[in-house]
Amino acid sequence: MTLGQFIIEKQADFPYAKGELSRLLRDIGIAAKIVNREVSKAGLVEILGETGETNIQGERVKKLDVYANEQFIAALKAGGEVCAIASEENEEIIPIDTEISKNAKYVVAMDPLDGSSNIDVNVSVGTIFSIYRRLTLKGPGTIEDFMQRGTEQVASGYIIYGSSCMLVYTTGKGVNGFTLDPSIGEFCLSHPNMQTPQKGVYYSVNEGNYLHFPEGIKKYIKYCQEEDSATSRPYSSRYIGSGVADIHRNLINGGVYIYPVTTKSPKGKLRLLYECNPLAFVIEQAGGKATTGDKRIMEVQINELHQRTPLVIGSSEMVDKVVEFMAKYKEQKV
Ligand code: AHG
Ligand code: MN
Ligand code: MN
Repeated sequence: MTLGQFIIEKQADFPYAKGELSRLLRDIGIAAKIVNREVSKAGLVEILGETGETNIQGERVKKLDVYANEQFIAALKAGGEVCAIASEENEEIIPIDTEISKNAKYVVAMDPLDGSSNIDVNVSVGTIFSIYRRLTLKGPGTIEDFMQRGTEQVASGYIIYGSSCMLVYTTGKGVNGFTLDPSIGEFCLSHPNMQTPQKGVYYSVNEGNYLHFPEGIKKYIKYCQEEDSATSRPYSSRYIGSGVADIHRNLINGGVYIYPVTTKSPKGKLRLLYECNPLAFVIEQAGGKATTGDKRIMEVQINELHQRTPLVIGSSEMVDKVVEFMAKYKEQKV
């Protein structure tokens, strides 16, 4: 079943919807295919771009994160279902004021290219997206439309540009994964009703920052490294540096991804609106958990577009364990 067929079939789940959300998800799928095409040529593009910023046709060679941003914005604008976009790449929101978006009901927040440090080295990168119903009543959307808790998300998901390209999303009724079949150019349902294991053997954290972690995280990492056959420890460390790829692997195999506060990033590094909330919605829908360490991510109050937060996300028993360690060593400073 293709993504398009699946979306049409699932529309029956939303009896009052008129198909706008379905069209919006389709638009995201289109942009994903275009970005995937470019990501898979990244090595070649790099070679062509060696003289500076122009390729042999005299066109500017765009960095993939900028390119991905442009592609998603263009697809969403052309689709006419969103009245504003928020992106990691744009300091302010992008209000949309076109004729076809006059009655648009939704806003989209996105990280167009997640894991950008991995682009030039042929390692998986991703896109993260989050869809909200607008709060303002008409005209182009405003910042107010984005100041909603993660619990208000209508849909969210990610695309992983990996050994194959996958689109994984939820509308709050479970999680489904689609793999791009390059021979027909369609995303096909490959992972229906994804469920994450309650526990796993992977922990994903940038241990290079160890000295700057809160005491509870340091102690949890030591716990992961201890021998204990009952809990299959020591766990294996897996950290790619593309959150989408790390969290996707842990979703399928079981594991926990942690990006805590550090002395260098006292509020955490990852952004609530377009990284943590959409990933949290997917993982919760797959039976896992996502927390700041003491609060459910999707309930965190948002006050700023690019607000940062610490993140602990993954298999529920593993997340609970991290939270337990953080609570136990809370009093101790970093
Ligand atoms: P982005 O490429 O969008 O800036 O996000 C990268 C994020 C996340 O995906 C990844 O896990 C983390 O930052 C890596 O950060 P460190 O290099 O600090 O570990
Ligand atoms: Mn990111
Ligand atoms: Mn990014």
